[in-house]
Amino acid sequence: MGFPKDFLWGGAVAAHQLEGAWDVDGRGPSICDVLTGGSNDSPREITSHVIEGKNYPNHRGIGYYHTFENDNALFREMGFKCFRTSISWSRIFPQGDELEPNEEGLRFYDRLFADYRAKGMEPVVTLSHFEMPLHLAKEGGFANRKTIECFVRFAATVMRRYHDSVRYWLTFNEVNNQTNTSNPIFAYTNSGLIPDPEMSEHERRQRMWQSVHNEFVASAKVVELGHEINPDFEIGCMLAIVPVYPASSDPEDVMRAEVVMRDRFVFGDVYVNGEYPRYFLKMLERERIHIEEEAEDRAIIARGTVDFISISYYMSSTVTADESKPDVLQSGFRGSVRNPHLQTTSWGWQIDPIGLRYSLCLLYERYRKPIFIVENGIGLYEKPDDEGYIDDEERIEYLREHIAQVRKAIDEDGVEVMGYTVWGCIDVVSFGTGEMKKRYGLIYVDEDDEGRGSHKRSRKKSFSWYRRVIASNGEDL
Ligand code: BG6
Repeated sequence: MGFPKDFLWGGAVAAHQLEGAWDVDGRGPSICDVLTGGSNDSPREITSHVIEGKNYPNHRGIGYYHTFENDNALFREMGFKCFRTSISWSRIFPQGDELEPNEEGLRFYDRLFADYRAKGMEPVVTLSHFEMPLHLAKEGGFANRKTIECFVRFAATVMRRYHDSVRYWLTFNEVNNQTNTSNPIFAYTNSGLIPDPEMSEHERRQRMWQSVHNEFVASAKVVELGHEINPDFEIGCMLAIVPVYPASSDPEDVMRAEVVMRDRFVFGDVYVNGEYPRYFLKMLERERIHIEEEAEDRAIIARGTVDFISISYYMSSTVTADESKPDVLQSGFRGSVRNPHLQTTSWGWQIDPIGLRYSLCLLYERYRKPIFIVENGIGLYEKPDDEGYIDDEERIEYLREHIAQVRKAIDEDGVEVMGYTVWGCIDVVSFGTGEMKKRYGLIYVDEDDEGRGSHKRSRKKSFSWYRRVIASNGEDL
């Protein structure tokens, strides 16, 4: 009973949120390099190029490019068994469409992955975590079929180079975010789709689903190729799981929740079953969305199915079919309402540990594939006390409750869970708002939204708590 012996405990980050060093050693600009800092009330701006005088927090990250050895030593101190990060595509192919990679970029990840291994951490690597070379986005992003070829070349290059040091690979981070059309940042970061204010909602959805199709083909090609490069590779998809509950037992609400969940399930259905589900084809027909495909696409998708599913989980949502109720959360679908049973974070995310167990059950019953929880955590405003210490009991509480539900899913529901990595195990730049002050870390980084500060790292209270959790394999929560 309890967590399996080889359970992969660890932490998770993404290159663009922590590496910094955005223009060194031959790296080209990525789509995140033209995202300004924002906040809860003012969305991040997507600029066409780097504009002097604007604040671009991803240029700095937390400077991990130069500090990784010391930072990794802190992760080792917590006893991490694995570490999830991503490869910055534009370090390897600065423009994205070159035929030869940038050797300096490859050398950086040689050193980084070797350091994880030396410190006893299994690297878990996302190929595309919201980062595409800006040049490719200007050429249409994933709506342009040529991007499939560029992505496959990038993936093949890094999978060959790191075939001995990396075993766990994820293709596209939170690939389903883009179905949320309430904020253009999602289609932009998932697929490199530059917002066009002239586009109608129908045109936007047409472009988004075309990109998704191209990503399905790209992902399937990479899964197949990866297994040829090293049959021991474990290659998974990565889904943002926000379970959607009906607001009441009114069958209209229940049906609305079922339909909304399809925007998440369609991704798992294609990645795992290798074919488009019928509800999806019906939706395309109904909305008159036409996907350009090549003759072999469906066969490629059928062959390149994933070995496991990885998920992020932060919150749940609730939906009503009653159109007179306003959208209250940033969940991006009509009829979304606040759940009166749940508290929210300062950023409006509904805290729901049982929702994690519920999601694990849904996914496992549907797919029968092992599940890796590669993101879970809470963003908080934090300030060190006079001694420089951060008592983040609220985070401990959040993580404890969620991990307890994972355990139940394993023990009572029989779900196969491979591992658990806390999101932002060290404070990093927030993806959604570009803030530093939305902190997730177990390690505090003295840096503000404008990049000011000593950049000193210090252990929060949750640091020693998580170390105990890992040392006891999840027994001591
Ligand atoms: C996920 C992303 O959306 O959630 C991460 O994969 C992100 O990149 C994390 O940082 C938390 O979101 P945010 O917007 O609070 O940073």
